[in-house]
Amino acid sequence: MALLEVENLGIGFPTGGRIVEVVRGVSFKIEAGESVGLVGESGSGKSQTALAIMRLLREPGRITRGAVRFDGTDLTQADEATMRRLRGGAVSIVFQDALSGLNPVFPVGVQLMDVIAAHRDVTREQARERAVAMLNLVGIRNAEERLGHFPHQFSGGMRQRVLIAMAVACEPKLLIADEPTTALDVTVQAQIVALLRDLRERLGLSLLFITHNLDLMGEICSRAVVLYGGLMMEDSPVETLFTAPSHPYSRALLDCVPRLEDEPGMLRPIEGAAFTLATAEAGCPFAPRCVLADARCGREHPPETGQHPHRIACWWSGS
Ligand SMILES: Nc1ncnc2c1ncn2[C@@H]1O[C@H](COP(=O)(O)OP(=O)(O)OP(=O)(O)O)[C@@H](O)[C@H]1O
Ligand SMILES: [Mg+2]
Repeated sequence: MALLEVENLGIGFPTGGRIVEVVRGVSFKIEAGESVGLVGESGSGKSQTALAIMRLLREPGRITRGAVRFDGTDLTQADEATMRRLRGGAVSIVFQDALSGLNPVFPVGVQLMDVIAAHRDVTREQARERAVAMLNLVGIRNAEERLGHFPHQFSGGMRQRVLIAMAVACEPKLLIADEPTTALDVTVQAQIVALLRDLRERLGLSLLFITHNLDLMGEICSRAVVLYGGLMMEDSPVETLFTAPSHPYSRALLDCVPRLEDEPGMLRPIEGAAFTLATAEAGCPFAPRCVLADARCGREHPPETGQHPHRIACWWSGS
């Protein structure tokens, strides 16, 4: 049994008197100790998927179908008390914006100790000791003194380290990181990824790493799930994805990675207009932009072919 099994997950928002699904039946799994990337253009459903796993979807969004089995328990059916115990305990999430994850009016030490005290039967002193140990673990120097500092007294990269310390303080089995480095500059991004890799090894945690940066994903993930228009396009070992992507959308995504000869920071957009849910049809969402697409692609979404760890949803796969 995998640590996390997302099965046929649907997420919807009521829009104009009906429920529009923004995630439309996505399945993937993460084994214990495995790092899986979740990639795809903006709006493809990555964050909603992460929030649904944690049962943190914002109203009026809700899970419309499917199951999220964590360690065998279906979280879509779990009561709120179970979820509160799990969040920050066995499953943790780190978001892109470290400022929104920290309360500006409390010193980081208080926030860190609160997380520890919420999940562990510890005295104030023990919580404090663990908070110091966690800051040390994520590479923050002068940890004792830093406990008393407020979030604004940390740089962006250091704040992200604090958030990661909070996320791993109770030794989660699964850490979800939703674009944890996007707001940071390039050198700091690499440092945070190195930290996550180090923590994964030391703490033996599994990672769901959501990113737009395929290079960073390659640094830390062994498998990648590619989403588009709320559907899985491909689920593939990272190496295979990088060397021989099967899905035309994966190929297009890889073509967007800036190359050495490009101006720094320049992205190569995929040709054609990005998918919008408003015009979502039954067909493959990538069909309107796909060089291979024919009438069937536009009409009918392809079934998944292949087997874990390499699945593809494309009428042209294998041809
Ligand atoms: N409150 C809402 N009401 C309606 N639709 C929403 C709401 N929140 C998100 N969506 C839609 O859900 C879809 C998926 O959004 P999501 O945030 O998961 O994308 P993402 O892949 O994380 O994108 P990004 O890379 O920009 O973070 C988008 O089309 C978005 O417009
Ligand atoms: Mg997102």
